[in-house]
Amino acid sequence: MKKEWRTGMIEIKNVTKIYDEIRAVNQLNLTVCDGEIFVLLGSSGCGKSTTLNMINRLIEPTEGNIYIDGKDIKDFKPEILRRSIGYVVQGTGLFPNMTVGQNIGIVPKMLKWNSQEIKRRVKELLEMIGLDPDKYVKKYPHQLSGGEAQRIGVARALAANPGILLMDEPFGAVDPINRANLQNEFMKLQKKLHTTVVLVTHDIGEAMKMGDRIALMDQGRLQGVGTPRELLCNKDNQFICEFMGNDSFINILNCYTVKEYVQPVNVQAGISIHETCNLKEAIAKMIENAVNVLDVTNDQGIVCGQIEINRLVHVLKEM
Ligand SMILES: Nc1ncnc2c1ncn2[C@@H]1O[C@H](COP(=O)(O)OP(=O)(O)O)[C@@H](O)[C@H]1O
Ligand SMILES: [Mg+2]
Repeated sequence: MKKEWRTGMIEIKNVTKIYDEIRAVNQLNLTVCDGEIFVLLGSSGCGKSTTLNMINRLIEPTEGNIYIDGKDIKDFKPEILRRSIGYVVQGTGLFPNMTVGQNIGIVPKMLKWNSQEIKRRVKELLEMIGLDPDKYVKKYPHQLSGGEAQRIGVARALAANPGILLMDEPFGAVDPINRANLQNEFMKLQKKLHTTVVLVTHDIGEAMKMGDRIALMDQGRLQGVGTPRELLCNKDNQFICEFMGNDSFINILNCYTVKEYVQPVNVQAGISIHETCNLKEAIAKMIENAVNVLDVTNDQGIVCGQIEINRLVHVLKEM
């Protein structure tokens, strides 16, 4: 596979962005580790998108520096940087006058891959996101559902095998059921590719579910950073407590996986859930199917245990 350079770690050092009088981002310091899903979380207007867009130099900081794998991004031409970093936005940003194949192939084409290589890569990516290449490659964006368009937006961003993927509210415009599916598929894909992901969202549930670590922002400032569980348990910072505390029960369900609560199989339930799903998804499935126990399956599709509602209730009571 061709690549310009495969990047990983991002360091944001004392970064400030001032618009007129507003400090959209104020003295921000963050390190995003190689291969993690790092979430920028906060209410609308807190500076998430501004932060994200400074990483690929769509926006230049007023002060401070950003390093990728130790190199100051100011030393790269913005075009080169943008071709090396994947970018997914809400509403996909697909070009309406281009086919799915042309949309996905756009960065490889800029990088001057030959047409056979591009064709092969487009096919590979469509298969990777679960869309039949023969059926989809010639379609136009208006012929796609919201979920399909979003998947193709992700495929396009991954086309040149970037080490970093920036995502700005990528699942925001998709209905809740499709959103949960897209999130799950994306998380699986990311584990396989080990891409470093910076994901912007205002949705705590999404942050809890997807983030290896979360940075919580408010009015351009960082309020806290940590794993979902660390933020949930933070009792020192009032802003974090209030932001996380509103839906703390749902948040707990979102950030614990089925795998952690699996029990030995008693009698097979017949309805199954994958071990990486979270507890909220398990409970939703139980309600949907009117059952109180689910079989838990692994990547091979083998039942490796069960999860039972009584145990969940018991565990949650103790938290
Ligand atoms: N181009 C701009 N000119 C002036 N103000 C801006 C511009 N872009 C963003 N802002 C302001 O900066 C703040 C942060 O914006 P943004 O990063 O888009 O927030 P978020 O993505 O968290 O919703 C907001 O107050 C917004 O109004
Ligand atoms: Mg935004």
